[in-house]
Amino acid sequence: MDAFADVEDTGLDDDGREAFLSDVIDGLSAATKTLPCKWLYDVRGSALFEEITHLDEYYPTRTELALLTDIADDLGAALPAGAWVVEFGSGSSRKSDLFLNALTDLRGYVPIDVAGDYLEAAAGALAERLPHLKVIPVVGDFTAELPLPAALDDAPTVGFFPGSTIGNFEPAQAAGFLARARRTLGDGAFMVVGVDLKKDLDVLLPAYDDAKGVTADFNLNLLDRINRELGGGFDRARFAHRVRYDDGEGRVEMHLESTVDQTVHIDGHAFNFRAGETIHTENSYKYAIEDFHRVAGGAGWRAQQHWTDADGLFSIHLLAAA
Ligand code: SAH
Ligand code: TRP
Repeated sequence: MDAFADVEDTGLDDDGREAFLSDVIDGLSAATKTLPCKWLYDVRGSALFEEITHLDEYYPTRTELALLTDIADDLGAALPAGAWVVEFGSGSSRKSDLFLNALTDLRGYVPIDVAGDYLEAAAGALAERLPHLKVIPVVGDFTAELPLPAALDDAPTVGFFPGSTIGNFEPAQAAGFLARARRTLGDGAFMVVGVDLKKDLDVLLPAYDDAKGVTADFNLNLLDRINRELGGGFDRARFAHRVRYDDGEGRVEMHLESTVDQTVHIDGHAFNFRAGETIHTENSYKYAIEDFHRVAGGAGWRAQQHWTDADGLFSIHLLAAA
C-alpha cells in the first residue's frame, strides 16, 4: 500500500469528464438504472479495491496468488522466451511480479489501466522492484480498440488478465474483449486469464459484502466521484450497498439502493429514485471450466491448459491464438 499512500487524484481531463457525464446521464435515465463499472476506479476507488483484495472474505486474490506460485514453472515452460507481457486492468500490479518472474528472458511489461494516477504509481513501484525490466504503462479503456506501444515490434506477446476481471463483462462482451485482445496481441500470441468459478453462496456472497463494509464503501465511492467530478448532489447516506446472486445468469450483482424516494441533481439534470430502486453498478460472472472454454474458443483462442486450486474456487487458463 505504501507506494500508493500519497497518490494524488488529478481528476479526469475534459474528454474523460465528458465521457463520464454522458455515461451517468444515459445510465440514470434508463428504465433500469445502471452505471459502467470502470468509473468505480478513481484513486480512492482503486485504493479501496486493493483493500478488498486483502479481506478474509475475499478469497479470489489469495487463491489466485497461491495458484500462480504453484504453476510458475508450468507457465515458464509453456510460454515463449523473449516476450512482452501485456496486462489488462493491472491495478496495483500485486500479482504481476509472480507472473513476470515465471517467464524466460522477458522483453518488457505493458500494464494497461483506466485509473491513470494509480497506474503511474503502480508502474513506478514495480520498476523499482524489477529494475532491469522495461515498463511502458498505457492509460486507457480496454473495452475499446487500444493500440500497443510501437516498442513491441515483432517480439512474442503474452496477455495477462488476472483477478477474474473477465467476469465483470457479460459473456458476449467477454468474447468481444478476447477477440479484440487476440487481434491486438497478434498471431502466435498467448493469453493467461484468471477466472472465478461457481461455488456455494455462503462463500460467494460475503466476498462482495464484507463485514467491515469495505466493499460497500467501494461501491458508494462512485456517488462521491459523481459529486466531485460532475458536481452531482448525491447524499450517500440515502443509498445502501446491495448484493445478490442471479442463478440463471450465474453472476453476483452489485447495486446501490435508494433508501428513500428522492430526486438527485447532476449538472442540470434531475433523476428520480423510488425507495428501494437500485443503480446496478457491477456484475461478477462465475464460470464452469467448459463455459469459459466456449467463450474463449468463440473468440479465436485455443484452450491449451488450465489449473484450479485444491478447493476448486478459482481457475487460471492458458490460451493460444488459434
Ligand atoms: N489485476 C488486479 C486488479 C483487478 S480490479 C487484480 O487482479 O487484483 C480491475 C482493474 O481493472 C482495476 O485496476 C481497474 O481500474 C481496471 N479497469 C476496470 N475497467 C477498465 C477498463 N474498461 N479499461 C481499463 N482498465 C479497467
Ligand atoms: N474482478 C473483481 C471481482 O469480480 C471485481 C470486484 C471485486 C468488484 N469486488 C467488487 C467490483 C465489488 C465491484 C464491487 O471479484
